[in-house]
Amino acid sequence: MRRFFDKALSIFLSFAFVCGMAGCSFRPAQETSDPDVYVIGFSQLGSESDWRIANTKSMNDTFANNPDYELVIDNARQQQENQFAAVRRYILEGVDFIIIAPTVEDGWQTILTEVHDAGIPVIIMDRSVAVDDEDLYLTNIGSDFLRQGNLAVEWLEDEIPEDTEIKILHLQGTIGATAQIQRTKALEDAVAKHPNWEITSQLYGDFTEAKAYEVVTDYLKENSDIDVLYSENDNMTFGAMRALDEAGISYGNGGQVKIITFDATKEALQYCHDGKINLCVECNPMFGPRVKELIENYRNGLPIPKHVYVDESAYTTQNITQEFVDSREY
Ligand code: AHR
Repeated sequence: MRRFFDKALSIFLSFAFVCGMAGCSFRPAQETSDPDVYVIGFSQLGSESDWRIANTKSMNDTFANNPDYELVIDNARQQQENQFAAVRRYILEGVDFIIIAPTVEDGWQTILTEVHDAGIPVIIMDRSVAVDDEDLYLTNIGSDFLRQGNLAVEWLEDEIPEDTEIKILHLQGTIGATAQIQRTKALEDAVAKHPNWEITSQLYGDFTEAKAYEVVTDYLKENSDIDVLYSENDNMTFGAMRALDEAGISYGNGGQVKIITFDATKEALQYCHDGKINLCVECNPMFGPRVKELIENYRNGLPIPKHVYVDESAYTTQNITQEFVDSREY
């Protein structure tokens, strides 16, 4: 362990972050002076969605009560500069390992070079980074976001006859984030293949419920001719559903607007089960145990694959039960 900075600050930041994200429902890692404790600095990009809260909880639950590890978490509040500051602080503190859930793909070359020069191994988690040299990080564990998008468009292809014109309202998350880039690519590629599909508008929803509610409410003041809502995460979907309700536009099974959403959190699955959302494409946030396994493999000198994808599916009213919804952890 190579720490020399005041650990109390880190513990406080970790605790404050977790409290802010989850109402103090779980505890920060224990402070210790044991030199055998392995210290992990985690730069979490934000707390914008239910998915993100579940992701942070999974990380915290995995490491919090483990005496061999100390996890220090920083919430970047969706600002890449905040991530740079946190990572530089982790370098100064001399942590043993760094995990980064990056806001956007671009802009990481310099900071990852600094981490590399400091000799600290890095895992990129959830989204990806675009850097010249992949050796700057150990591995990238996350979702196959393009596959998720393709699952969505394949479902839509089955739903829509070739002679039926459809108008698609597209809600986008953080521009430049892997989740946005790949889910958008899947839709745009499909629209280019189907002359009867039209994206009527691409609205920026920031992966948050509040922003989506605002932009969809504004949009519906002038336009109500929508057949499909393609929403790049569940929280934006919830905001859009509220806007649709207020505009008196029906959605879901038998409604005017078919809703496609990404994440498949418990709340979205319940709506899907109840027929209010047509398709939930899963994005699994429970990375904690997999990340720990990767770190342990690294420490034991075992080979680490450059990319690790998590298993994911898609759900409709037809293929989920209430028991399945009830069993969802997040
Ligand atoms: O990168 C994963 C995406 O980020 C999830 O779909 C979304 O909910 C989160 O904010």
